[in-house]
Amino acid sequence: MKASAVEEIPLARPSIGAAEEEAVLEVLRSGHLSLGPRVPEFETRFAARVRAPHASAVSSGTAGLHLALRAVGVSEGDEVVTSPFSFVASANVILYERARPVFVDIDPVTLTLDPGAAAAAVTERTTALLPVHIFGWPTQMEPLEALGLPIVEDACEALGARYHDGRLVGSRGHPAVFAFYPNKQMTTGEGGIVTVGEAPVKQRIDSERNQGRAPNMDWLDHDRLGFNYRLSDIACALGIAQLERLDELLGARARAAVRYREALAGIEEIELPCPDGGGAARGWFVFTVLLPRGVDRDATIRALRERGIASKPYLPAIHLMSFYRERFGHRPGEFPVCEDAAARSLALPFFPGLSEGQVARVAAALAAILGQG
Ligand SMILES: Cc1ncc(COP(=O)(O)O)c(C=O)c1O
Repeated sequence: MKASAVEEIPLARPSIGAAEEEAVLEVLRSGHLSLGPRVPEFETRFAARVRAPHASAVSSGTAGLHLALRAVGVSEGDEVVTSPFSFVASANVILYERARPVFVDIDPVTLTLDPGAAAAAVTERTTALLPVHIFGWPTQMEPLEALGLPIVEDACEALGARYHDGRLVGSRGHPAVFAFYPNKQMTTGEGGIVTVGEAPVKQRIDSERNQGRAPNMDWLDHDRLGFNYRLSDIACALGIAQLERLDELLGARARAAVRYREALAGIEEIELPCPDGGGAARGWFVFTVLLPRGVDRDATIRALRERGIASKPYLPAIHLMSFYRERFGHRPGEFPVCEDAAARSLALPFFPGLSEGQVARVAAALAAILGQG
């Protein structure tokens, strides 16, 4: 007898509709595919959306973090205090400037930078702090701001989040970097944006993303070192169309998160993402659980895959990656909270179109695999 086909549930799936298709086609028909009008339009709309004075569109979140670090003055030999529990890009960009990432441990509940540990790591060589709003949870900013150092916020996973004072992430005036890879809250295919508080900072980022060209200069005249970190008009048109639907996209993710919370509530010793509270709200990006201690995560992932359900470890600790170990001599045990989260974290399927039935299927499968079905 032929087994009936099991519907595959992917980890992520972007929501692209007719409006996005039309917006991209319009740019293609216009012939103005880059350095055109969609770039400033996208920037203005995005800045307004997160209540930031300015925004600069760039080719990726990584590019945005790199330019933001340069804009706050990080250079060779400097130290930047940051989280080891992040996507590797937030540490790599520090190395691009020949500065040193100084990792400190995270808070066990929010999984964001522990402010006390950050304060203790500051030396006379520290020129910036790079908190990561991991899994869309806003880092508590006030204790970091009290240290009086420039801050670059990695908000690549945190579109739609609110800080503890209720303001929108990206509106604080520090450069804050968002990313638009297809698994993110909204997508431009590849892409990113930096929100900033001051016009000169935007001007510097705009120049450096375009080979160091000043805004009013002639073509091929460059007054500083720059990069090609531009975002095309095709991508910006897609971004504008996604922004139009952002409330719908964020709402669908938040509803999926509520369903997961209910469906997984009965599984003992599993840890769910911390709930909103104290004014802070998550911008839902991934739904990541911490498996009970002692559970074989790889076996769990395999068992889920056999049931047609995608999942993955998310995230590994940066300081324990082979490149960082070899370069800086990091060893297990340095950041126990991060290492514990990295060893147990599992991202489950999560995207706007995830149905109630799919959430129920994932939860039932996980419960059965953990022997609690
Ligand atoms: C926390 C974090 N930082 C940085 C990045 C880098 O963004 P991008 O992949 O657009 O370069 C990502 C995206 O995956 C991220 O999740």
